[in-house]
Amino acid sequence: MPSFDLARARRDTPACEQVIHFNNAGAALMPDPVVDAVIGHLQLEAAIGGYEAAERHAAASERMYGATAALIGATAPEIAFLESATRAWDQAFYAIPFRAGDRILTSVAEYASNYIAFLQLVKRTGVGITVIPDDAQGQIDLAALSAAIDSRTRLISLTHMPSTSGLINPAAAVGRIARAAGVLYLLDACQTVGQMDIDVQAIGCDFLSATGRKYLRGPRGTGFLYVRAGIMDQLEPPVLDMHAATWVSRDAYVMRDDARRFETWECSIAGKIGLAVALDYAHAWGMPAIGARVQALAATLRQGLRPLPGVTVLDRGEHLGGIVTLTVDGHDPVDLRRRLHAHGINVSVAKQQATRLDLESRGIESLLRASVHYYNTEGEIERFCAGLAAVIKA
Ligand SMILES: Cc1ncc(COP(=O)(O)O)c(C=O)c1O
Repeated sequence: MPSFDLARARRDTPACEQVIHFNNAGAALMPDPVVDAVIGHLQLEAAIGGYEAAERHAAASERMYGATAALIGATAPEIAFLESATRAWDQAFYAIPFRAGDRILTSVAEYASNYIAFLQLVKRTGVGITVIPDDAQGQIDLAALSAAIDSRTRLISLTHMPSTSGLINPAAAVGRIARAAGVLYLLDACQTVGQMDIDVQAIGCDFLSATGRKYLRGPRGTGFLYVRAGIMDQLEPPVLDMHAATWVSRDAYVMRDDARRFETWECSIAGKIGLAVALDYAHAWGMPAIGARVQALAATLRQGLRPLPGVTVLDRGEHLGGIVTLTVDGHDPVDLRRRLHAHGINVSVAKQQATRLDLESRGIESLLRASVHYYNTEGEIERFCAGLAAVIKA
């Protein structure tokens, strides 16, 4: 593992000393520079007025675009700021001009909100959904994906890492298939941006959606959308306002020519500034170093959990990331979470409906999710495993 200034990471995150935070796939702990930026802007709004504060901090909020672009290998005009990954994903998905008979290809790991949008479009427009099966290792089967593409295929939609498993889907291999077939490719990278190195050029996606509060360690209520410049002209977002478009004559409007056509005017300026700081903060650590540390910590955690009585570690896939999922025989995950919380340990519970295709096929109703970040330690992992063992025994 490359050397990592863990002491500094933890100094920047004072809450690390109060709680074992293994809920980074829910919302990670914000580092001090992010908290300071958000609070500082809110205080300025209170002191001089919201519009006036936005004007004074225009450069700091504008930084969100450049910082996002730098982190994911895009350009600033390809980035839109939105309030969540879901809103980002929806703005992209509903902008695609689907016609009856078009087909959407997706994987077993697809996130519930995305799949609900597919089902809505089945009802509204008459598109078809094809779920590509997993391969023997538990990730999207690339040969099956290639074979499924035909002239009616309009979109490949992939969840890079599901909220309910450590699986990292082979996003770049899917991108090569999408490119070769000339099919649009929408990547839900909600759990992977901030967790590992992401380069939209290497991945070859047309769209990428992400959230601020998870592995990026940004404020809640923030997210972004990347849209490849080359396809911007083909896309009319489902919602347009006077920021996304200009009302040029009584009967006409003209959309912006960059990704901000996917935004609306009003937003949390404090959130946008905080997200910019979080993006620069992540970039300064170096995404390859973050990715290596997160994956190593998660592997250590899986190793520590396997010998515990009744524990089944559920993660499948050739490459695994920072999300560790498990069940414990005879124990309700909700009850386990509550009892771990009483021991100063934050974890979360995921239900089957979050990734129904995957969990239903494996007969899993709900699971416990422990998701680590680079500021977690091997010592915390030991204490977590000991805490879980005690809770199971009690
Ligand atoms: C894979 C995945 N996609 C999308 C989302 C939705 O993100 P948001 O809550 O920011 O809309 C989540 C949230 O858990 C997720 O795990």
